Amino acid sequence: MASVDTTIQLIRTTGRDAAGKPASACSPALAKAPWEFDGTLQYGPGSSMGDVIPAGSPRQGGLPAEYQRASVEELHERIRAAKATLGDRVVILGHFYQRDEIVQHADFLGDSFQLANAAQTVPTAEAIVFCGVHFMAETADILAQPHQEVILPNLAAGCSMADMADIDSVEECWEQLEALYGTEPDADGRVPVIPVTYMNSSAALKAFCGRNGGIVCTSSNAETVLEWAFERGQRVLFFPDQHLGRNTAKKMGVPLERMPLWNPRKPLGGNAGDELLDAQVILWHGFCSVHKRFTTAQIEQARAEHPGVRVIVHPECPMPVVDAADESGSTDYIRRAVEGATEPTTFAIGTEINMVNRLAAEHPQHTIFCLDPVVCPCSTMYRIHPGYLAWVLEGLVAGETLNRIEVPEAVAADARVALQRMLDAKPKS
Ligand code: 13P
Ligand code: SF4
Repeated sequence: MASVDTTIQLIRTTGRDAAGKPASACSPALAKAPWEFDGTLQYGPGSSMGDVIPAGSPRQGGLPAEYQRASVEELHERIRAAKATLGDRVVILGHFYQRDEIVQHADFLGDSFQLANAAQTVPTAEAIVFCGVHFMAETADILAQPHQEVILPNLAAGCSMADMADIDSVEECWEQLEALYGTEPDADGRVPVIPVTYMNSSAALKAFCGRNGGIVCTSSNAETVLEWAFERGQRVLFFPDQHLGRNTAKKMGVPLERMPLWNPRKPLGGNAGDELLDAQVILWHGFCSVHKRFTTAQIEQARAEHPGVRVIVHPECPMPVVDAADESGSTDYIRRAVEGATEPTTFAIGTEINMVNRLAAEHPQHTIFCLDPVVCPCSTMYRIHPGYLAWVLEGLVAGETLNRIEVPEAVAADARVALQRMLDAKPKS
């Protein structure tokens, strides 16, 4: 199967995909090289191109011209040569959503948490080249050993969802909640609010949770983490992804009317005080623009066209989509579901297109397709191109660490507390 990049170029020139079927992409700018967006303050073409990027977001300085001019074959050759020279002094991590042109050079492929841990299993690696997005590189740095440096090949590879909750807005929200609920525990010793942050958040927010009795969760352990939080608190403030929070709490029996949304631009998040007094989970107004693209209409169409289709979506999808699917789970859950299917099966999957296409290529015995017919990769994951990977690796060969992601130790120490609570949290049953 053709890589997403090849498909995008084909769509641009022929309007068709590699199978010759009419196809479309969400932006013609996807066919451009990512360095055309270097230095600009935007997420780049793809799913989150319409999201508002915070003014202070890191920008990538210009990629040196020799990497822009090189053919993809030459870049692959240079990456292989640099890797061979560096040997076990470097480890390359690739997230499931990365383009195949990157994944082929990765020593580990996985979800955000698996990759953060993978780095720890290679203590010889002085450099961890994280082909993913900014919050993942930060988490790797928090968990890395002191002699390890983490590199993000393109600094513009952020995450629009993570950017929707910044530390100042969360601190402001916290002050308002403290004023409303007080700070005293109830008769059972439960504090008024426990902050829970999704892994897809800045190190500053993980540290905030560490300092305030809170915890981190991933899409694979959100239910266990919420159980942990409900044992210790009367309610939860969940950020930044409202959908993961809502889908998980709903599955645990929390009624929708007890899950108000917190809009950081409005006083009390846009809520009346009464609504908040009755709240069990306060959901931050954040979302992922990749997973927001999936709809119940797409699921209906898949079921009409493929009777017996197994629909699996990521819990970052809106609640009606999760409810209409057969299953929902993290990227690793989706991978395991496909790998575990013993009979030829048709899968319609609601997650990022690079991962879906890779699963389809790796499992030709199954029919696997993305629920969204429009090719629209995660715009920030897409900013990592082999040109940037070759550049940072050759930098290491020359003794230079380019694009280092370094979390100040005071922040990292608090963030580690919240991450450790997550690791220690065990499911009830
Ligand atoms: P994982 O935590 O499953 O890697 O997912 C990351 C992500 O960005 C999902 O949108
Ligand atoms: Fe962020 Fe969504 Fe991209 Fe994941 S898929 S990195 S949540 S924008």
